[in-house]
Amino acid sequence: MRYFSLGEVPPKRHTQVRGEDGRLLVEEVVGYEGFSGNESILLHLESPCRIARVGEFEPLHVEEWVPPTHVHRLTDTRPVRAEGDPVSGRKVLLFNADVEIAICKPAVEQEAFYRNGEGDEVLFIQQGSGEIETTFGTLRYRQHDYVVIPRGTTYRVIMHDGPQEWLTFFTPGEIETPNRYRNRYGQLLEHAPFSQRDFHPPHELVTHAGRGEYEVVVRVRGGMQRYVLDYHPLDVTGWDGYVYPYTFNIHDFEPKSARLHQPPPAHQTFQGQNFVICSFCPRMLDWDPLAVPLPYHHSNLQSEEVMFYAAGDYAARKGVDVGTFTLHPSGLPHGPQPGAVEKSLGMRETNELAVMCDTFKPLKLTTLARDLDNPEYAYSWYTPLEQPVG
Ligand SMILES: [Fe+2]
Repeated sequence: MRYFSLGEVPPKRHTQVRGEDGRLLVEEVVGYEGFSGNESILLHLESPCRIARVGEFEPLHVEEWVPPTHVHRLTDTRPVRAEGDPVSGRKVLLFNADVEIAICKPAVEQEAFYRNGEGDEVLFIQQGSGEIETTFGTLRYRQHDYVVIPRGTTYRVIMHDGPQEWLTFFTPGEIETPNRYRNRYGQLLEHAPFSQRDFHPPHELVTHAGRGEYEVVVRVRGGMQRYVLDYHPLDVTGWDGYVYPYTFNIHDFEPKSARLHQPPPAHQTFQGQNFVICSFCPRMLDWDPLAVPLPYHHSNLQSEEVMFYAAGDYAARKGVDVGTFTLHPSGLPHGPQPGAVEKSLGMRETNELAVMCDTFKPLKLTTLARDLDNPEYAYSWYTPLEQPVG
């Protein structure tokens, strides 16, 4: 990310700054990799260590489902009911040590503020809009935004009216734009499918000086630790640096087309620890007269591929519809279903909109993924063989 600042910061860091009441503000450095990674410096009205009461610690439980068979899977998230809040409503479908992928259809507002103390988060807004109040200021989000929230950000989501449906990612690693899109100074290169202008930091910083009871829930050590504060946790008067939450709308991703088929790395949007997130956007298709516009069959020998279908017409793919996702696990080849390649010949454009997450380590499934599983999908490449002639 680029350098950004909101509110008031002094000309020199680590110097005395006083608030309106004459008290010294409290400086907090928030950074990655010890003091060697990206960081931001925030100025608070109160010490961010201050707690009035320690609440409960509740371990998070993910119920694993070990499937009896290893096959390609199609999962339909449409029957998932809206329930919970923007944090408790996240229902994990797939996970490994690097990433958790969940569906979230929050129905009620958060009662407490939330902070992820052990990982970065990405919310892909399939449906809905609203605002996220954070220690770094307020972010607006809208349909098809990726909202990237670095660990350590205390926040609360204010949802606008209407249904909300999010695909969420949690990683103990970092969410970054791919290295190969950036020059040695970190600036995005001309060939990158987006520029710094497409990434939107918080638009305003509101400093809350309220006193009272404020609950903060922190995800840490595989569970949720509750704390009660006697001051409003969003008490930052100014900050600057390279760490902050931001949004990037998938429609600002500039897709790449070519004379012949472009592989998934052309669609890469983010890199994580042993996984990538890619955006498949409406685009022109391959223009060589002999081009095959659909992907060739492929065996990603070290990858698991999760593809969430966000919008577009998927009539050509058996069983696939908006709101479903496919899991093509490692160890098996995958590719277009019978007849699809033939039908695609001569196609000049696609209106697909999909979010892909490829992991380099096997993914585990949850019992919710079992409940939403369509066992027919594994056979969707099967048609009776033609009888040999003679
Ligand atoms: Fe694939």
